[in-house]
Amino acid sequence: MTINDTMYAKIEDTARALMSSSYGTAISGAGMSAESGVPTFRGPDGLWTKYGEPDDLGYEKFEQDPKLWWETRLSSTYMPEMKKALDGAKPNDGHLALAKLEEMGHINCVITQNVDGLHSEAGTENIVEIHGNNRLLRCIQCENRYTPENIPMEVLPPICPDCNGLIKIDTVMFGEPIPRSVLLKCQNESSQTDCMLILGTSGVVYPAAALPSIAKSSNGATLIEINPEPSALSPICDIVIQAPTGVALPALVELLEMEDSSS
Ligand code: APR
Repeated sequence: MTINDTMYAKIEDTARALMSSSYGTAISGAGMSAESGVPTFRGPDGLWTKYGEPDDLGYEKFEQDPKLWWETRLSSTYMPEMKKALDGAKPNDGHLALAKLEEMGHINCVITQNVDGLHSEAGTENIVEIHGNNRLLRCIQCENRYTPENIPMEVLPPICPDCNGLIKIDTVMFGEPIPRSVLLKCQNESSQTDCMLILGTSGVVYPAAALPSIAKSSNGATLIEINPEPSALSPICDIVIQAPTGVALPALVELLEMEDSSS
């Protein structure tokens, strides 16, 4: 996709907003990983569009019988289409450009709804995974996170080595509250943001979708959306760039690098 003059002018406005901001952040959704071959959820080919959105009982079922939940999980391939896509996914130009924006000091934190780990693989350092990480496990009591190889699975359900709490996948299940420490960090980051990039999200899942409004109400933050389609957040955004993140973010980095080299 090429960038037309109108879109380029908006990317210039975005560069100016980031250069004049003191605390820039980004919130990303599944659209950020679409160019890495990871399916979105609600788009035309989205997983929930195809198979229906899971009910809110996932977490309740886990709590009722964690042993059965783990036995079922370990014996079946949950959403094989998503697993196959995630296994092979690599960061795309959008992830790499966002990591560069952090390195340049324009972005201080990336809050992601994605569980694919691609932002950290691209080199972003300050990340909050509000919906967890599909490569990790988490204790529901102390909220410590572990890599699977460090948690014995001979006896199910696995128990936390630090507090003897129940261990589950780190990915936040439907009906599960966002871990308190994670939610507090998201709210803290948003309340100090004065410029927020909103990248590839339909903006319909809370509490993530409320974070741009927290930035706007706390600091009058400039909200900038990059998404080929309108979203539920488009109406509150100051700048809406209707383009893929893998196209617009590299163009933004190129502009900022020219500015940085000329200043
Ligand atoms: N670049 C930018 N945005 C894109 C691209 C792209 N290349 N391709 C698609 N999009 C946009 C779509 O237009 C859509 O607005 O990405 C958005 C994806 O929306 P969803 O599929 O709803 O994903 P998301 O907003 O991340 O969903 C939030 O819902 O089910 C839960 O846990 C799941 O974290 C997920 C949450």
